[in-house]
Amino acid sequence: MSTLWHGRFEGGPAEELLAFTVSLPYDRRLAGDDITGSRAHVRGLARVGILTEAERDDVLEALDRVERELESGELVFVASDEDIHTAVERRVTELAGPAGGKLHTGRSRNDQVATDLRLYAKRELAGIAARVLALQGVLLDRAREAGDAYLPGYTHLQRAQPVLLAHHLLAHGWALARDLDRLADTRRRLDVSPLGAGALAGSSLPLDPEGTAEDLGFARVFDNSLDAVSDRDFVAEALFDLALLGVHLSRLAEELILWSTDEFGFLGLDDAWSTGSSMLPQKKNPDIAELTRGKTGRLIGNLTGLLATLKALPLAYNRDLQEDKEPLFDSLDTVALALSAMTGLLATSTLRTDVMAAAADSPTSAATDLAEHLVAGGLPFREAHAVVGALVRRSLDEGIALRDLVAASPELGPEAVGLLDEGVAVSRRTTRGGAGPAPVAAQLARFAERLTEDRDRWEQ
Ligand code: ARG
Repeated sequence: MSTLWHGRFEGGPAEELLAFTVSLPYDRRLAGDDITGSRAHVRGLARVGILTEAERDDVLEALDRVERELESGELVFVASDEDIHTAVERRVTELAGPAGGKLHTGRSRNDQVATDLRLYAKRELAGIAARVLALQGVLLDRAREAGDAYLPGYTHLQRAQPVLLAHHLLAHGWALARDLDRLADTRRRLDVSPLGAGALAGSSLPLDPEGTAEDLGFARVFDNSLDAVSDRDFVAEALFDLALLGVHLSRLAEELILWSTDEFGFLGLDDAWSTGSSMLPQKKNPDIAELTRGKTGRLIGNLTGLLATLKALPLAYNRDLQEDKEPLFDSLDTVALALSAMTGLLATSTLRTDVMAAAADSPTSAATDLAEHLVAGGLPFREAHAVVGALVRRSLDEGIALRDLVAASPELGPEAVGLLDEGVAVSRRTTRGGAGPAPVAAQLARFAERLTEDRDRWEQ
């Protein structure tokens, strides 16, 4: 068996070694980026005169053919193809003969794999962003369509004060906007070409790292060859971004799960986006939301796993770094699927605004408004809090309607009873960023504007 290093070795590799070191089963997905990287490298070699134009064209033609063979599934892998880089180079050499043997000039798999993975991550993170934008679009649509509908806002999962449904939905939208920021930041930082760093130290050949960086569409070129082949910060950052995005999706999922229970009754699941039970005929289950919540564990695991792999690695390339790919691929796949599924779930669910309003109109949810009414009359808030608290306690202990107690209260009186009317409490949330109709209308406009900006930013 012919390996990339056969010259130095008398015998071939042990079967167990290959079984353990092989990465082809998963790094095949870098094939397109590997070919892109090789094209730029070959053009660079020709620019500096290491390859003739004819040789360059032969290798480029072979790369085109390999690309087609990979796409059609014609390319037959052999046992010595330990990774996608080896497989592509082997096939190019078979096709282009001696010119193919020049493809790897001045290049190592160390700078090659770092280049491939950066190209891959740059594109895939944009794909994640597109899905985040789609989910935000649904959140915005549903927020708009919610109008003045309101539901209880919670702290400690206890009813606290009513909030507009649009306000609640947009709270998740803003968290996703921060995720987009993080993805953009990670992409900006990873936009550096490592090609030309060689195995670790650069080259004695007159390579053209700036030229290949430009050819590949990278914004910058590496400054330090050791760092270029060792740096996997971009993978760790991407895994963090995806883990936190997963945490946000999980928090949204948890609420949708709660809302879909009979106990809450705020949300009805669409048949196509929910599952039944094999035994319990009445069940309609929020499996999408549960899996979104559950898979977040893997996303966090992928991040901590990679950080543990990177910790204490000496410069420069170590084979440990091959462990960067599976967590990245898994997190990208997981988050992409979760985003699409959650977008569908949210777009098709019925929001039961009547049930929400009934829950929010429990008289005690206006308790803060009663206290603030007293404050407006000059009473210190602490005293107002105590007055209203005592009324609530009496209402609960003695089973007397809070309205009657408020009407009879010397501090509050009949004019305060109106504060307990349906829908009044939420309308009194008037401050910027607050949960009432006026600030939410302004917020909807800001969110829509931000969404347009983000869409433009990610389309480029
Ligand atoms: N498959 C390897 C990886 O993913 C490619 C680099 C191998 N380099 C080496 N010196 N053995 O990291």
